[in-house]
Amino acid sequence: MLKRSGLLVIIMSLAACGGVDPNSPLGKRTAIFKEMLNVSEDLGGMLRGRIKYDEALFIEKAVELDTLAKQPWQHFPSVKDDDKTSARDDVWQQQERFQELARALEGTTARLVASTTQPPLNESVLALRVQAVEDACESCHKEFRAY
Ligand code: HEC
Repeated sequence: MLKRSGLLVIIMSLAACGGVDPNSPLGKRTAIFKEMLNVSEDLGGMLRGRIKYDEALFIEKAVELDTLAKQPWQHFPSVKDDDKTSARDDVWQQQERFQELARALEGTTARLVASTTQPPLNESVLALRVQAVEDACESCHKEFRAY
């Protein structure tokens, strides 16, 4: 009886996180994408007045986003790995295009960081840079992510 309830707990906790192993490629890239979303929402939030604008924190988070933007791609194996993925098959069928949009995102985060190297920062320039990052996320999602 004890054994069975133990198993049930395991099954339930797997179900709670969608059954995705955090150490699998899917688990790893998903965690990075979520972190990218958190950081980019903080950057946008500071510029749009949702959270307090703090220049030092903005600079830090811009660097963090630039670092994160380079990380998900290595966790897409060369053949489709997992049926639980919300990546479209096109990720594997059109790898060149996918990589092109990944590089495009990295370009936007690098430009964002470049705009933060000389305080005092110009918030309207930052707003353009953050918008470009968000557009890069969206254009890849439109082509490659199934919702
Ligand atoms: C080059 C393509 C590409 C770019 C650029 C991109 N994404 Fe994604 N994103 C994907 C794909 C593909 C998935 C689905 C991954 C999977 O389930 O295997 C995804 C999934 C996600 C998820 C869902 C993770 C989950 O919980 O399953 C979030 C959140 C996300 N992306 C945020 C972002 C943000 C924020 C940016 C920009 C800063 C961004 N993405 C840029 C391709 C991209």
